[in-house]
Amino acid sequence: MKEHSVEIVVNGERHHLTVGSEMTLLEVLRDRLGLKGVKEGCSKGECGACTVLVDGRPVNSCLLLAVEADGKEIITIEGVERDGQLNPIQEEFIEHGAVQCGFCTPGMIISAKYLIENNPDPSEEEIREAISGNLCRCTGYVRIISAIKSAVDKYSMR
Ligand code: FES
Ligand code: FES
Repeated sequence: MKEHSVEIVVNGERHHLTVGSEMTLLEVLRDRLGLKGVKEGCSKGECGACTVLVDGRPVNSCLLLAVEADGKEIITIEGVERDGQLNPIQEEFIEHGAVQCGFCTPGMIISAKYLIENNPDPSEEEIREAISGNLCRCTGYVRIISAIKSAVDKYSMR
């Protein structure tokens, strides 16, 4: 299999890696960099468990080849907290009991982060739309949506 050199910045840290042509960004993050907070669900772009920010936009990392991520900046759930302080979205997910098995949570939080940082006053419909690519089999979404609404308020008070 042909190998390629790629350079990616993940959670602020630069990495030079040799990757196979068919390796996905998800495989690089989990298997090469040990970022197990990025979850692998369906591996075909349907569940959103593998969502990360790539150059600031939410992407299903199972669908992006590692070679396509060359030169890009990536944020995973491990990069969401700051100086040991949870992000308001993480705090509100805990506060609202929005986590059950937790498998969807990292991707859900990444999608919510993108929403709130790009739309400081989202409607409930916009919140639902923003997480529509993130499937949760446990919570019924109600607590997730309340958590995101409270996080919106916390962001506005920062
Ligand atoms: S694992 Fe990527 S969308 Fe399901
Ligand atoms: S908490 Fe289990 S899938 Fe969402």
